[in-house]
Amino acid sequence: MFVKNTYSLIYVLIGVAIGLFISFLASPNYAPIGSYGYQKTVNHVEDWHGHHDAHNDGEVDDAHAPEAILKFHAGTNHTHGDSEVSEKVKEKVRVFCWILTGKQNHEKRAKHVKATWARRCNKFLFMSSEEDTTLPSINLNISEGRDHLWAKTKASFKYIHDNYIDDYDWFLKADDDTYVVVENLRFLLLPHSPEEPVFFGCKFKPFTKQGYMSGGAGYVLSRKALKKFINEGLPNPKKCSPSEGGAEDAEMGKCLEKIGVKAGDSRDSEGHHRFLPFVPEHHLIPGHIDPTFWFWQYTYYPIDQGPGCCSDYAVSFHYVNANLMYVLEYLIYHLRPFGISPPQFSGDAMKLAYREAVANMGADDVFKKTNVTKTTNATITNKP
Ligand SMILES: *[C@@H]1O[C@H](CO)[C@@H](O)[C@H](O)[C@H]1NC(C)=O
Ligand SMILES: *[C@@H]1O[C@H](CO)[C@@H](O)[C@H](O)[C@H]1NC(C)=O
Ligand SMILES: *[C@@H]1O[C@H](CO)[C@@H](O)[C@H](O)[C@H]1NC(C)=O
Ligand SMILES: *[C@@H]1O[C@H](CO)[C@@H](O)[C@H](O)[C@H]1NC(C)=O
Repeated sequence: MFVKNTYSLIYVLIGVAIGLFISFLASPNYAPIGSYGYQKTVNHVEDWHGHHDAHNDGEVDDAHAPEAILKFHAGTNHTHGDSEVSEKVKEKVRVFCWILTGKQNHEKRAKHVKATWARRCNKFLFMSSEEDTTLPSINLNISEGRDHLWAKTKASFKYIHDNYIDDYDWFLKADDDTYVVVENLRFLLLPHSPEEPVFFGCKFKPFTKQGYMSGGAGYVLSRKALKKFINEGLPNPKKCSPSEGGAEDAEMGKCLEKIGVKAGDSRDSEGHHRFLPFVPEHHLIPGHIDPTFWFWQYTYYPIDQGPGCCSDYAVSFHYVNANLMYVLEYLIYHLRPFGISPPQFSGDAMKLAYREAVANMGADDVFKKTNVTKTTNATITNKP
């Protein structure tokens, strides 16, 4: 009797396990990438509440980064060396960064964004469900969760428009697991006027004719684009969806298309991508991104796997946990190979950037410390 019952129980358990396994495989919300798993929504767009728990298995997520690291980063000047050009460009290309977060992520994520890349923006603000003056974060008074993401995005841009539109040129939306190389964002934007109705990011194909920008890699609106969004888009339910829910990035893309904001090409002059939708490892190591993964159907421009994936002037990566933020800070702003000139002092790309910077700014003193030939020809193009 005992034996029989035990066997029945085992059979029931095996049945349940098989059932769970099959439903797991059949779930439309799950898409595997290599040895990792990213959980995405059915329409494969921004899902920052869902994915936090699903990715980075095997890693310590959300860094229990020691306070000492935070203090170190808050107090250091970052560069390998001379940052004069980037300081000049920072005056010319004023970027307001807002980071979408929630109260449950202030400690886990937001404070590490603040300690790393956010402080390089001309100004930054966390948009959240709780006010915290130390971050600082704004309480949008909108419910948490995926079903309210689009409402949060609209409210954030409205708040920023109403309070800051005249003080900045470009307005970047990022997630609390986006890592941004802010200097390279400014480099991309340098040849563009903030009065051009344009937005840049990692361009995806569906839902729109001109493409839309994936939310996780971050996207940036010109001042003109933000004005149009608030004044022409939001008040008109035929142009911008009035609902709370929906994929915020796709909704944004559909809306901006209808009001004549151009989806820009953010690739560099060699056609390499600058806004990357995954962590560096997944782009750099071939085979990491499953060939059947939705991403290949979504990407607007072809993208290589391997070293050709990513621009030397890459702007952003997504799914970056707090630990990796500190690793990227170290690799990008501190580590250097002895005996090799810092990359910013070599290569045609930087010479072009210098030329563009000077042509735009009249900042001749930028050249005093370098041997880059002065020219007033501003013919740099960031497009292939
Ligand atoms: C960082 O650099 C700026 C400008 O060179 C300087 O004024 C400031 O004191 C530096 N901060 C630290 C913590 O070294
Ligand atoms: C959220 O509500 C509080 C309390 O009513 C208010 O002070 C705050 O301004 C609101 N936040 C926004 C972004 O409107
Ligand atoms: C810059 O040019 C001057 C004069 O031609 C030369 O003496 C100096 O070594 C050069 N500096 C660098 C960093 O190449
Ligand atoms: C400026 O750009 C134009 C167009 O590319 C080119 O023909 C010209 O030679 C350039 N002038 C200088 C001084 O580099």
